[in-house]
Formats: sequence, C-alpha cells, structure tokens
Amino acid sequence: MRLVIGNWKMHGTRADAVALAAQVAAGLEAVPAWDPDEVRVGVAPPFPFLEAVGAALAGTRVELVAQDCHQEPQGAFTGWVSAPMLASVHVRRVLVGHSERRQHAREDDALVRAKLEAVLEAGLDPVVCVGELLAERDAGRHEAVVERQVRAALEGLDPAAFARVVVAYEPVWAIGTGRTATPEQAGAMHRSIEAVLAAIAPEAARIPVLYGGSVKPSNAAELARTPGVAGALVGGASLEAASFVEIVRGVAEASAADPRSA
Ligand code: PGA
Repeated sequence: MRLVIGNWKMHGTRADAVALAAQVAAGLEAVPAWDPDEVRVGVAPPFPFLEAVGAALAGTRVELVAQDCHQEPQGAFTGWVSAPMLASVHVRRVLVGHSERRQHAREDDALVRAKLEAVLEAGLDPVVCVGELLAERDAGRHEAVVERQVRAALEGLDPAAFARVVVAYEPVWAIGTGRTATPEQAGAMHRSIEAVLAAIAPEAARIPVLYGGSVKPSNAAELARTPGVAGALVGGASLEAASFVEIVRGVAEASAADPRSA
C-alpha cells in the first residue's frame, strides 16, 4: 500500500479547511494516474474542523486523519481529545509521535507507545512518526535513534496489529525547513527501518514506511521512486490543494511504474 497524508497542523479556519478538503477531492478526480486502492490519500485537519472536513469528504476516497490523541479513552484531561472521540467523528487514522509533539509537548517514546495502543484500541489505524534531530545525524546516531523510536512504538504488539500500522520517517531537520533528505539519505534510512521492522516480527516487515519533511511537487516523485518509500507525510505543501494534488500525482505515477513495491 502507498499512502499520502496532508498534515494541516494548526492552520486556517473552518471555512478554509472545508474549502481545502473540497478542492483536494475535486483535484484528485482530475488525476487519471490516481488509483485510490493503490495510493490512499488522507488529510489531517485541526480537531475542531474534523467533522466539517469529514462531511466535505463524504463520498470521496479521501480519508480523514487526526493529528494526535490522548492516551486515555476518557477522563478528567482538560483540553485533550481521546481516540474514541476521534472514532465517533469517523476519523480513520491518527498520527502519533509527530516531532512537533515530541519537541513542544515533550512526548517521549513511552507516551507515543501508549497513544499508539489507544489508537488501535479505538479501532483506528496509527501512523507513528519517527525521525532524528540534526545534531543526532551530525553525530552519526540517526539510525540508532530511529531504531529506538521504532522499537519502542512497536515491539511486543500483537502481530495482528501490524497490518494496521504505518510508520512515517521524518528527519526533524527537514520538517518545515525546505531542506529535504536526499533520495540517498531517505533510502538508507528506509532500508535501516525495514531491517528493524523485520527483526521485530515477520508481520511487521510489511508495514509501509512514509517519508516526510519538506515534500513538495518538485521532489515527491523522486522520493516515491526511492526503494522502501511507500508514500509521503506532507506539511506545508498540503495547505494548497494544487500542490498536494501534484504530490499525489507524483506518488501515483511512481506507484504505476513500480507496482510491486507498493
Ligand atoms: P513539512 O512538514 O512538509 O512542512 O516539512 C512535514 C510534517 O511535519 O509532517
């Protein structure tokens, strides 16, 4: 499976979100290379707009994705949102462990694991984000850091759950910086993650691994052709329907050219 998710982060109003969703859905209709069974597409609006965006996407093949959730199903947790709440507004997938949450909300590996389990428990599919800081790459520790994050998120899970998990590799130094990992850097890390997944469990070896970090129309196809890259998690470029649709087109064309790696 290939997958492209637009992470809208904390941008826009309800009207902006509904308009963007409608434009994305309409734009995708006009992409002949896009087969929604081969390349799934999702958008992750801010929490208050999930329901309205879900309504705007009704009848389309674009999935509703949430950006985060709390690890408990309910309780006295002012300001948080639980996975069952997301399920009740028809969210399909939930991002966990995005680097902005690891950094600004001080989420550690144990919390990310708890959130991943909460997402599974609610019947939703988790997208677990991993990635190294620039200092960690400069110190040559990037593969070890990402291995630690992947193992902490997935080791010991019920093997049946692996069919529902997606991993997104997002080098923190590439997020929102305009600086993308080269296909060589992405390819090397994706190979490393594949080896870690295979070591965790045979079922985990089939987990799709997305790339994220300054993905844009100009680099999406090349990244998607990189062996091991199963799609993209897109931030900034997903806020404009035309550029997000172009990214999906790039991934769809890469998938059509190499269906076996999907
Ligand atoms: P970016 O964000 O595409 O703006 O770099 C990616 C992400 O944070 O998921």
